[in-house]
Amino acid sequence: MIESLKKLQESALSELQSVETIEQLDALVLKYFGRSKGLLNNVLKNIKNLSESDRRTLGAQANEVKVAIWKLIDEKRNEIRSKNKPEFLDLTATGKTTLGHLHPITQMSKEIKEVFRSMGYSVLVGPEIESDYYNFEALNIPSEHPARDMFDTFYVKDPNPKSKEKLVLRTHTSPMQARVMENYKPPFAVIIPGRTFRNEATDARHEHTFYQVEGLVVDENISLANLKWSLDTLIQKIFGGEIKTQYRPSYFPFTEPSVEVLMSCIFCNQKGCSICSRTGWLEVLGAGMVHPKVFEVAGYPKGKYSGFAFGLGIMRFAMLKYNIPDIRMFHQNDARLLKQF
Ligand code: FA5
Repeated sequence: MIESLKKLQESALSELQSVETIEQLDALVLKYFGRSKGLLNNVLKNIKNLSESDRRTLGAQANEVKVAIWKLIDEKRNEIRSKNKPEFLDLTATGKTTLGHLHPITQMSKEIKEVFRSMGYSVLVGPEIESDYYNFEALNIPSEHPARDMFDTFYVKDPNPKSKEKLVLRTHTSPMQARVMENYKPPFAVIIPGRTFRNEATDARHEHTFYQVEGLVVDENISLANLKWSLDTLIQKIFGGEIKTQYRPSYFPFTEPSVEVLMSCIFCNQKGCSICSRTGWLEVLGAGMVHPKVFEVAGYPKGKYSGFAFGLGIMRFAMLKYNIPDIRMFHQNDARLLKQF
């Protein structure tokens, strides 16, 4: 009897190995454990005919075999079920997402806008694809003017074949000076933040795609002192009292006089580093008093108004504020940088 128990266990195990479906498994259960004809049940039934001592030993062994086979049957059942489980997508499950936030350029831009709003400026927007006229001509930069060399321009094909307009990706936000003066009567104080483009060889301070904020204030009796107060207030509010500024004579065809505004280099504490070209100063702004020619193009009465304009680099401000040593890092989308903001 012990022999036949062993044989039953071996045959049940080898048959189990080839079972692939629940139906085959149920048939196997019936074959070994069926109430009337089950092979193992028959052996168990005959135990009662044995002597008491044989009954005890054989009974215990038969029980062990039965438990072992049932364990394997249960494992097989789970295996078949998990294989046939349909893929389940729980749309109600809460996702594991991290909250995003504004890009540092956007944060800087918002901060600059807030400061200007607090000084009474209005915020306007302008087109990124500009006509040659607004980008250059209306700003006293006729074609063939050497000042065009200051702007490495991307020219754009006009999709309208009949158009005689030459289109450019705006090289600065200054075209909005002409557009604003065409549409508004002084007095006004506006800023125009936006994206600008130049066909530049990039380096730590220069990008081909960058952001500027244009400013334009026109009224009677506006002076360079008003320009300096506005810009110093901006710089003090953004960077605090530690930062020094410097106004140097410069040249722009659309302002007279013109200045460039520099800030003390925070990267080296003005000792001189590669970012500030060892000068201790970083240029962040171009500015000046609106040129009489620009007022003339706008159709303003001669000599009635005066005004100032400026164009600041948002990314240069952000580099200084957030201590970012290379302007190209803003567009690299490296999470290690972005998640610090
Ligand atoms: C201008 O673009 C003039 N339109 C500014 C202006 C406006 C002058 C109104 C007078 C009156 P400039 O090319 O210097 O000027 O650029 C102004 C600022 O934009 C720079 O000081 C710098 O902060 C930023 N900038 C210029 N070129 C780049 C560049 N390639 N990458 C990043 N920032 C730049």
